[in-house]
Amino acid sequence: MTHLLPYNTFGISAFASQFVEVSSVSQLKEFLKNQSHTEKPFLILGGGSNILFTKDYKGLVLKNNLKGITVEKEDDSYVWLKTAGGEIWHDLVLYCVNNNWGGIENLSLIPGTVGAAPMQNIGAYGVEIKDTFEELEAINIHTGKIETFNNEQCKFGYRESIFKNEAKGHYFITSVTLKLNKTTKLNTAYGDIETKLKAWAISNPTISDVSRAVITIRQSKLPDPEQLGNAGSFFKNPIIDVAHFKQLKVKFPDIKSFPALEGYMKIPAAWLIEKNGWKGKRFGDVGIHEHQALVLVNYGTGTGAELIDLAHKIIDSIKETFGITLTPEVNII
Ligand code: EPU
Repeated sequence: MTHLLPYNTFGISAFASQFVEVSSVSQLKEFLKNQSHTEKPFLILGGGSNILFTKDYKGLVLKNNLKGITVEKEDDSYVWLKTAGGEIWHDLVLYCVNNNWGGIENLSLIPGTVGAAPMQNIGAYGVEIKDTFEELEAINIHTGKIETFNNEQCKFGYRESIFKNEAKGHYFITSVTLKLNKTTKLNTAYGDIETKLKAWAISNPTISDVSRAVITIRQSKLPDPEQLGNAGSFFKNPIIDVAHFKQLKVKFPDIKSFPALEGYMKIPAAWLIEKNGWKGKRFGDVGIHEHQALVLVNYGTGTGAELIDLAHKIIDSIKETFGITLTPEVNII
């Protein structure tokens, strides 16, 4: 039995029946040769920053510790960077920012590992990993063979990919290759970034300026998991049809929205949760963050069951007031 407390940013106490840290592809291949391993349930763990343990894990946890960043190829405009799945995502962002390679600076300070990033198509401030994603390599844990997935094969969607759906639990992502820009093409349209750069009187921002702006914004709103257990946004922002949105707008003229596919609107779940009075509320050792209503927090001894109970209460209240069903973004185990 291995205690999973150090391996999840929610800081939940749970145990895994078996736990293996993977530091090389050959070690994993060797391990998988023993077919009996593949009969157990598998859980592949990166930084543990998007997971909620509600019970002990009666199976095998494989922790991705693969390291290394290499330039695969480059031309005048782009560089293709291959990064091992166990690298820390933010370290990769800083590496790119320091080299002046653009494309992932808006994704600064997202917790977690590189291998986990494509699983939920991480996104922030108008950018998603799919925008720079070239391909990934993953070991099929049933066959032990390496398979390559290109952008299309990953079936990326809003906080979605094939690895959260039909391929869930079947692949261990060993590396991710991104195609980064050498020529600066910044994306500063997201309101918060523009406001921050204006406040700093920066009119011609660099990649590094955008990264610094994102880091400052995130630090002001999102709790640091080292200080306060959390897994970032607990829910996805719901997408509703325009007719539903129009009805809500009559009743709640201050409702916030973002454009989605034609005929639909994306509503910030944080606004709905705050409007229903949940923001900053604490129940025992679990609660809703005081600066970002989309983030559930564990003040110390909170359990997965208590967080799930709170999540269900929030879901029910949002359904009742707005007729919208929130869905969790976090993987619930
Ligand atoms: N808002 C509130 N109350 C709050 C917070 C926000 O009403 O407590 C409203 C504001 O109107 C604000 C709007 O919600 O304009 C959007 O807020 P914010 O920019 O903070 O973004 P979000 O929609 O709450 C999403 C992502 C975050 C990402 C930010 C910035 C999801 C589920 N979450 O949050 O991602 O950092 O946008 O791009 O899409 C994560 O996935 O873990 C995550 C943190």
